[in-house]
Amino acid sequence: MDFSHVVEPALSAAVDLLVIVVLGDPTKDSLFRIVDAATGKALAEAARSESFEGKTSQSLTFRSAGALSAPRIAVLGAGNRADLEVPALRDVGAAAASIANRVGARSLALVVPTLGGAREAAAIQMLTEGALLGTYKFGRYLTGADAKKAPSLQSFAFITDAKGKKPGAAQAKAVKIALDRAQAVAAAVCKARDMINEPAAFMTPTQIAAEAEAIAKKHPKVTVQVLGPKKCEELGMGMFLAVGKGSDQESKLIHLVYKPKNAKKKIALIGKGVTFDSGGYSLKPSNAMEDMKVDMSGAAAVIAAIDAVATLGCDHEVHAVAACCENLVSGRAYKLGDVLTSMDGTTVEINNTDAEGRLTLGDAITYVRSKVQPDEMFDFATLTGACMVALGPYTAGVMSDHDALCRGWLAAAERAGEDMWRLPLTARLREQLKSPVADMRNTGDRFGGAITAGLFLKTFTKDTPWVHVDIAGPASLSASRPFQPRGGTGFAVASIVEYLTRG
Ligand code: BES
Ligand code: MN
Ligand code: ZN
Repeated sequence: MDFSHVVEPALSAAVDLLVIVVLGDPTKDSLFRIVDAATGKALAEAARSESFEGKTSQSLTFRSAGALSAPRIAVLGAGNRADLEVPALRDVGAAAASIANRVGARSLALVVPTLGGAREAAAIQMLTEGALLGTYKFGRYLTGADAKKAPSLQSFAFITDAKGKKPGAAQAKAVKIALDRAQAVAAAVCKARDMINEPAAFMTPTQIAAEAEAIAKKHPKVTVQVLGPKKCEELGMGMFLAVGKGSDQESKLIHLVYKPKNAKKKIALIGKGVTFDSGGYSLKPSNAMEDMKVDMSGAAAVIAAIDAVATLGCDHEVHAVAACCENLVSGRAYKLGDVLTSMDGTTVEINNTDAEGRLTLGDAITYVRSKVQPDEMFDFATLTGACMVALGPYTAGVMSDHDALCRGWLAAAERAGEDMWRLPLTARLREQLKSPVADMRNTGDRFGGAITAGLFLKTFTKDTPWVHVDIAGPASLSASRPFQPRGGTGFAVASIVEYLTRG
């Protein structure tokens, strides 16, 4: 899809579909009134008969019958102006593209709502992201003719109705940056979605390594290193390797680096890459296992984010480390009661083989601390069902022992429009991880399960500033919303790119 920005009166846009966004009562919206007048009051009549009130997710489509250049008009509601949060415009962008494809439009022009100042460029970014993310489809395994049909929409123009004023060079530059950012972010989110939506039979640790290698090949400033089981063994990554022991697939530790000249900070991103989580001998029931190909969503997010960061450029040296393996049962699988020795020497008694993510991440954290020595590190993991119980399916749980870093992260997530909420690392719950035979055990009690997982990871972070992001809920969705079709969402990619390139 091709995006552009033009300054012209909305009524003269020569496109297949003209889209206007109204914030609340359409009869009070000046553009709605102009278009209504041009249609001989037919638009307002249609709005009345369809009870269109400009509320969020309401839409009205209308044939203009020669009243203006565009043969069709879509009016999209975005709720009251005072309540508008700019990231909500992703759903509006998605709705516009979806209506265009439904009516077979090849070109559309969307009149950017007047929000004033910097919010205008941010709005264009979110609308663009929405159009690209909402038309995403994972169709690789569909054979029907419908699935192969290409969407009709090819050109998406934003119109600023400047009311006679010429836009300044500064505005044009801000819009160009917004369009570039949106396209890089959306491409990375869709890359992550593809990786997550692929069945585990295809998206193995080796395949994830191949995806990372392909990204490194695209960008001169990105390099990649893939460590197999032998190398990880030499490094003493006993926790990480134990999880993959039951699988025929080789475990891979994937390390991507984006290195600009004169980097300001060194930032490490760590991703959980369990390509299938059966639970191991603490076997999951079938319904809980059904979606466990998504357990590599953290790895997909950090790898895909490097692609966007390298496209957009960033002042920091960025490392993405994905600990990839498969948690299965076999004669070689790790067992309950096993005592593992982690890369930092801590011994861990296994009282649940389904708490595998923290084992993989614990060693990945030690690897990052010793090999990268970053100024700050973040981990992303579909870590606990308990986090979904606490926050629901749309919100990630954030845990950190570093208030300033955590605030900076949450601010970036808010700008990117991804729901995240901080949970405390309540020290008293650490008692639950005591073991009579080892330095600690890998799981605590049911209550506070997201936090004890965070506390387990904290054992390995030592004094490196760290933020843990549990994405078990938002990594994949069973019900669609306009800009997020069901399945893998690519959650966290947008916040990572926002943090690294504008934090
Ligand atoms: N991958 C799961 C967590 C998960 C659950 C992700 C649902 C996405 C959706 C993780 O490895 C796991 O099994 N966690 C256990 C921890 C427990 C054994 C302490 C859980 O949440 O039940
Ligand atoms: Mn598990
Ligand atoms: Zn898991």
